[in-house]
Amino acid sequence: MPDFMEVIRSRRSTRKFVPGREVGRDVLERIVEAARWAPSGANTQPWDFIVVHAPERREAVRQVFLKQAQRLVDHAKGFPAVSKAYLANTVAIVIVLGDPRWKVCFPQGTTESWVEEYAENNEAIFLASLGAAIQNLQLGVAAEGLTSAWLSGGGETTTNRELAALLGYPDWMRAYGTIPIGYPAADQDSRYRRPLEQLIHWDGYDPTRYRRHAQVDFYESALRPFAMYRDDADLRAWPDFAEKLGDWAEAFAGGAPNPSGALEAEADFSRPRVAGKATKARRKAKP
Ligand SMILES: Cc1cc2nc3c(=O)[nH]c(=O)nc-3n(C[C@H](O)[C@H](O)[C@H](O)COP(=O)(O)O)c2cc1C
Repeated sequence: MPDFMEVIRSRRSTRKFVPGREVGRDVLERIVEAARWAPSGANTQPWDFIVVHAPERREAVRQVFLKQAQRLVDHAKGFPAVSKAYLANTVAIVIVLGDPRWKVCFPQGTTESWVEEYAENNEAIFLASLGAAIQNLQLGVAAEGLTSAWLSGGGETTTNRELAALLGYPDWMRAYGTIPIGYPAADQDSRYRRPLEQLIHWDGYDPTRYRRHAQVDFYESALRPFAMYRDDADLRAWPDFAEKLGDWAEAFAGGAPNPSGALEAEADFSRPRVAGKATKARRKAKP
């Protein structure tokens, strides 16, 4: 058994699997057992796990995701998604269903003006519970020497409806996570992570650790495709670090992204704000 931090660090979103491999139900049961022990709001365990193991069923799920990926290309332009053809080489695909009825077990506002406040947080409790289960599942995968990805596209309404029809679950439940599992074909042992000193705040919020609005804009419009797929934890290891980061080098790779400590007022981030590569692709696509 690898040690705890080794499992944590080796959990990777790998999108390339070795073809022709299979695993038994015993391995997959151990993986779902890891998910079973995740924490959940009010211990509701608002999840179910459909382990798609039979090869023809895996192929049917893959077909759903090929269509899902094409919809992204057509209708969510600019997002650096990769082709889903790699789903051909999984040993299993686990669909993590969220059952929204259990939200009723979280705190409900009984005073009119507080109803919305509690309802809002209940949504967060529900989603965070599912995230914890998916995380445990992925860690279970890593502990078995396998690898996985975390696909959120099954939660899109159209894709969820197709998955529900295929797999037989009620379509008011939702596939919040689709986790293809396989043997890693690509050696991706690391990925960009913010330096520890940049995200740790001792005894209160340190405003020199604040990431400015323009830093979010830069990530969205320029850095995202590289930060998502390259396999260095430290951006300084990139041979083209200076070229890719420019004036943002210190903000992303150093300890204090905001040396002045000045904070900003809330801004509208409901859509991309600057014209980088991704935004240009979206604009070009507009009729
Ligand atoms: C909530 C959530 C949704 C994600 N959705 C997708 C997805 O739809 N497709 C995909 O390929 N990766 C998806 N990912 C994986 C992230 O891209 C990945 O975790 C991130 O780039 C960091 O890489 P790592 O997991 O290898 O450390 C998702 C991750 C999370 C936590």
